[in-house]
Amino acid sequence: MNKVLVTGGAGYIGSHTCIELLHSGVDVVVVDNLSNSNLKALERVESITGKSITFYEVDIRNVEEMDKVFVAHSFYAVIHFAGLKAVGESVAQPLKYFDNNIYGTQVLLQTMKKHEIFNLVFSSSATVYGEPASVPITEGFPLSAVNPYGRSKLVIEDMLRDLNVSDSRWNAILLRYFNPAGAHVSGLIGEDPQDIPNNLMPYISQVAVGKLEYLSVYGGDYDTHDGTGVRDYIHVVDLAKGHLCALEKLKSNPGVVPYNLGTGIGYSVLDMLAAFEQAAECKIPYQIVDRRAGDTAICYADVSLTKADLGWQAVLGIEEMTGDGWRWQSQNPKGYED
Ligand code: NAD
Ligand code: UFG
Repeated sequence: MNKVLVTGGAGYIGSHTCIELLHSGVDVVVVDNLSNSNLKALERVESITGKSITFYEVDIRNVEEMDKVFVAHSFYAVIHFAGLKAVGESVAQPLKYFDNNIYGTQVLLQTMKKHEIFNLVFSSSATVYGEPASVPITEGFPLSAVNPYGRSKLVIEDMLRDLNVSDSRWNAILLRYFNPAGAHVSGLIGEDPQDIPNNLMPYISQVAVGKLEYLSVYGGDYDTHDGTGVRDYIHVVDLAKGHLCALEKLKSNPGVVPYNLGTGIGYSVLDMLAAFEQAAECKIPYQIVDRRAGDTAICYADVSLTKADLGWQAVLGIEEMTGDGWRWQSQNPKGYED
């Protein structure tokens, strides 16, 4: 378990995971094309941990460059974050998502096979549950895609199941993330969206810091405790630690297994807003507008399987998510550009 390849390691979840890997003594090699990230994130990971990372600015679709990385290192496993994640963009440009996410993963898997590395931790998403019929959502719920981004995640999950059928040496832990939020407690790394954020938490932080005027709350008439959408927000550091548990699990040759990474608790948009106002000690203006197409009312995880099999459970709550998120945003109002 001493050397791990992290694709997309300069990104939001990847950089937080690199910290946890380095803290636990794992050698980290990162491949990232920096299409949605900044090298400063990895420099800060190095300064937080006092350890170094081997970095390759490589696109996972580049067969020759990927091969060179695998020739240069002997990996125990790959943690695969690299991918595009903007739902709206995926609807407008599906081929971009099929190419980057699906073809990119195919190249990665081919390279792994060539070098006989059969252990993978994959960043899947709660989006693979489509519009769930009920909550909490267990891993056995029916799977469906409601947009091309979600389809790319489902296809990759299927690819991994097919590989395992063809050759039982393949192991993959499919980590289905719910709604990542927050930042490292140092305030040195965090989420740094390149454009106007699509997701709630970075949007709220940018209103709080004065970059955006007000939050549009998508729908105030859902069948929830206050009418706004309910989600399972999970602290990115808890999420990052889940990857270490997944690496441990790979040792038992588990085959291809999905696990939910969430808290099992649902908070509404207004709950998150109120908690963020407390953390930032300011009022955050908002307006309730129409529902956003494709949104479901309530989504939260059943995490009992993850707890039982991986020995993992979230320990950080809404105060840490908003407090740490605000520390990052207020200390770096322009993200890594500062
Ligand atoms: P992110 O955009 O911050 O990180 C992804 C990283 O991958 C970026 O550094 C980007 O530059 C890199 N990348 C993209 N395409 C690449 C390519 N072809 N070659 C090399 N590098 C490439 O996103 P994140 O929030 O850290 O998400 C990480 C993973 O988790 C993604 O696969 C995403 O789909 C998944 N996920 C994220 C969320 C979320 O809400 N953040 C929820 C569920 C699943
Ligand atoms: N919301 C607003 N205003 C905003 C943004 C979001 O009211 O400006 C609301 C949404 O309507 C929803 C909640 O805040 O009720 C959360 O929305 P996000 O966009 O932050 O997250 P989603 O649950 O829609 O989706 C996210 C990722 C998906 C991923 C899913 C599950 O964007 O890719 O979590 O992991 F699949």
